Parts: sequence; structure tokens; C-alpha cells
Amino acid sequence: MKILVTGGVGFIGSHTVVELQEKGHDVVIIDNLSNSSEGVLKGIVAITGIVPEFVKLDLRDKADVSAFFETHEIDGVIHFAASKAVGESVDNPLLYYENNISTLIYVLQELEKHQISNFIFSSSCTVYGQADELPITENALVKKAASPYGNTKQVGEEIIKDVCHISKQLNAIALRYFNPIGAHPSAEIGELPLGIPQNLVPYIMQTGIGVREELSVFGGDYPTKDGTCVRDYIHVVDLAKAHVVAMERLLDSENSENFETFNIGTGKGSTVLEVIESFERVTNTVLNYKIVPRRAGDVTAAYADTTKVKSELGWSAQSSLDEAIKSA
Ligand code: NAD
Ligand code: UD1
Repeated sequence: MKILVTGGVGFIGSHTVVELQEKGHDVVIIDNLSNSSEGVLKGIVAITGIVPEFVKLDLRDKADVSAFFETHEIDGVIHFAASKAVGESVDNPLLYYENNISTLIYVLQELEKHQISNFIFSSSCTVYGQADELPITENALVKKAASPYGNTKQVGEEIIKDVCHISKQLNAIALRYFNPIGAHPSAEIGELPLGIPQNLVPYIMQTGIGVREELSVFGGDYPTKDGTCVRDYIHVVDLAKAHVVAMERLLDSENSENFETFNIGTGKGSTVLEVIESFERVTNTVLNYKIVPRRAGDVTAAYADTTKVKSELGWSAQSSLDEAIKSA
């Protein structure tokens, strides 16, 4: 079975390529390297011993996307390629709507044209905003997105749902990730953000090794047990494995509904201070940090109800926070 992984050189995509290859799937990667570097491919080969086919291509180029599908027989697509910086999306919404929505449409058009049935979309817990109830189930109300980035995930899901509704052949799964962190245990691949990290764990790591002087903890006055925000941090290898299980469900189409959504998290919430404590515990060092005012747009708490993904996909996260932090 040949699986196309768009954005397969990126953080989550590269870990998923490894897990697909290790389960015997043939992988072809499309990436324009706008937020990743080709060296990651060497890391994949070092882990699996298999060289995945790599096509450097910008999915915003409709003609190139079309030409790719004319020349490749694809059984399923995992669509990671997107821009993901929340703050940048506020400053440049059109960039985000073009890169996250037009690319999705071009890929879906090719699926229709070539009668390809199996599609997985990278969605996010950001679609829930501040949920009314915790843990968050897949049925929780999807609230108005807090950023253009978040909106691209909501609209992306709606587009796929509409296409599935009229399509006789397309089966799709949207995986709503909570907070992916960590790296492959081989340390051949991991999270390598370009520039100053926006996310907590890469910022902690760079502070720990002295690249950054001090971590700013955004807000110490939230209504949580220690005043800092709560998130559901999931090891990227666990997350990658969820994609393999979801793709295998689609390939075995008797099991799959037309369009499904699943939360991909651990089910456990951790505060920012607990993540710092985990870092200090596993590295036996002290982290330099200070509490500063809240960051605009942050929700107080988000963690997944994982009942549906456990019962329908038979998947659950295996790694603890300490294991994920250690790997990072
Ligand atoms: P990433 O930036 O590391 O990977 C995305 C990859 O897509 C990069 O290699 C980039 O070069 C490529 N890409 C972007 N635009 C492209 C285009 N037009 N054509 C071809 N390639 C393109 O990001 P990631 O953390 O691996 O995230 C993967 C997906 O998961 C994204 O859709 C993201 O929105 C979603 N997601 C990520 C998180 C997270 O915390 N990392 C959380 C929820 C959802
Ligand atoms: C953010 C996005 C989410 C996106 C995800 C991956 C928002 C509101 N959400 O999730 O849509 O899918 O990134 O790109 O932006 N923190 C600090 N100091 C830092 C960095 C973060 O204290 O330097 C805190 C944050 O306030 C938050 C927690 O750490 O409480 C996690 O932050 P982050 O890693 O940025 O992820 P989210 O904001 O949850």
C-alpha cells in the first residue's frame, strides 16, 4: 500500500513516516521544506534503513499537485502540510488561508479525480477553544476560533465533511491533536523549530541548554491548581502511531464511517509548572524561569477524553510526561 505523507519532513510527519515504514507501508513524501530541512530524511533512513521517496513540491501549486497524482499510484493520504504558528496567522491571515485551505482543496480534488478513498487530516484541539467541560469529548461544541490558524482547522474539517457527504468513495478521519512534544528515542529526528520557539517544550529545552536565557511562564493567576495553564502533552511517537492505526482502519474500509473525528491526547492534564518540574526531574538541573502576564488567546485548560479513540481505534498513549520530556 502506498501512502502519501504531505509535510512528511516536518515534526509530526517525519515521526509518522518512521512508524508507517516500520509497519511495512510504502511511503512517498511531499514537502516544500518551508518549515523543515532535508537532513530529516537522513534521520528517517538511519532509523528504518528505508529511503522514502521524497518529492519537493509546493502544494499551493495546483498544476504540480495534479502532475504528482498523474505519476503516482496512491492508496491513502495523510495531510500534515500546513502553517502552524498561531501569532503569525493573526498577522498574516491570507498566508494561512492560502497555505492551509487551498492546499487541502487541491489534494481533495485529486483524491476525487483518482478515486482515492483514504484520507487523514491533521486537526487540533484548538477547534474546541475553552471547552465548557473537561475532559473534552469529540462532541464538545466547536466554538468560534481564536485565530485564523484555528479557523483553518475548523473550516478544513467542514470542507472534508461536505466532500465526504456527497462522495461515494471518500472516507476521512480528522485527528484532533492535543499538545505533541518529544522526539524519536533514537534522537535521529525530533522537533526542530526554526527561529525562536513559540511552544512551551522547545522553549524549555533551549533554555535548558543555554540557547535562551530564561523561560517566561505566561500567567500565574489562572484558576488551576498552581495558577498556570493546563494542557495534555502527548509524546510524538504515540501520536505518530495513532496515524498508522487510523490509516489501517481506513484501508480496511468495512470498519470506517464516511467522516470521523478523534481526540489524540493522553487524557491527562499537566500545568506549565508541572512540565518544568518534569524537565528538572529528568535532567537533574534547575530551569531558569519567571512568571509573566498571560499570553493573549491562551485557554485555561484543555485535556482530552480518550474514550472514543480507545474503543473505536484501539489506540491509547503509552508514554508518560517524563518519558516524553526526556526524549525531547
Ligand atoms: P511542521 O511545520 O513541523 O510540519 C509541516 C510540514 O509541512 C513542514 O515540513 C513544511 O515544510 C511543510 N509544508 C508547509 N506548507 C507546505 C506546502 N504548501 N507544500 C508542501 N509542504 C508544506 O508542523 P507539525 O508540528 O509537524 O504539524 C503538522 C500538522 O499538524 C500541521 O497541519 C499542524 O497544523 C498540525 N498540528 C500541529 C500541532 C503541534 O503542536 N505541532 C498541534 C495540532 C495540529
Ligand atoms: C498552541 C496553539 C494551538 C496549536 C499548538 C501547536 C494557541 C492558543 N494554541 O497550543 O492552536 O495547535 O500551539 O502549534 O496558541 N507557555 C509558556 N511559555 C512559553 C510558551 C508557552 O508559559 O514560552 C505556556 C502557554 O501559555 C500554554 C502552554 O505553555 O499554557 C502550552 O503552550 P504552547 O506549547 O504554545 O501550546 P498551546 O498554546 O497549547
